[in-house]
Amino acid sequence: MMDEALGNGVSRVSLRSVTPEDSERLFKWRSDPRVFKFMKTARAPIPEEHTIWMLNIVRDEQRYIVEALSIGPVGFVSWKKEGSRARLGIYIDPERWGVGFGRAAIRLAKKAARQGGCLEMIAEVNTDNYRALAMYKRCRFREKWIEMKADLL
Ligand SMILES: CC(C)(COP(=O)(O)OP(=O)(O)OC[C@H]1O[C@@H](n2cnc3c(N)ncnc32)[C@H](O)[C@@H]1OP(=O)(O)O)[C@@H](O)C(=O)NCCC(=O)NCCS
Repeated sequence: MMDEALGNGVSRVSLRSVTPEDSERLFKWRSDPRVFKFMKTARAPIPEEHTIWMLNIVRDEQRYIVEALSIGPVGFVSWKKEGSRARLGIYIDPERWGVGFGRAAIRLAKKAARQGGCLEMIAEVNTDNYRALAMYKRCRFREKWIEMKADLL
């Protein structure tokens, strides 16, 4: 478990591994349109999918709950080791956006991935996701590849 104080000094943030008891809260966060619209699937998970996702231990993937001191769980962050790269996944409880939890979680995930032998971290972001783009820039990510898309009418 690693932790860090937010800049405002109000809350400490730490990461702990996801347990089966987190299933309900993760499902709730993933089912929120403010969250799933920026996921690759762009739709709410169905309960069966979520159960499989919870049970499916993906090789080289680390899944964490973001915990804030005196609040409790406020989000989810994961990284998957792909050679020397860590592929990031993150969402914060929409009721807790804008406080700095996303940024703190990324700092901790970066630290964990570095300790896990990774040299870089990558994230796939929808170009309409201005919050996430701002967050990644703030966390010193820079654009590397851009996926181009055209509607086939
Ligand atoms: C993206 C997300 C994780 C950000 O979490 P958060 O806890 O609100 O982020 P933070 O409070 O740490 O903010 C980090 C930075 O994002 C930017 N940001 C936050 N809220 C913002 C807003 N309303 N408008 C513009 N930028 C904003 C700021 O640059 C901020 O840094 P600063 O506070 O130092 O200026 C959260 O909005 C989320 O879960 N979104 C849905 C899932 C998602 O998009 N995941 C990423 C997929 S790639």
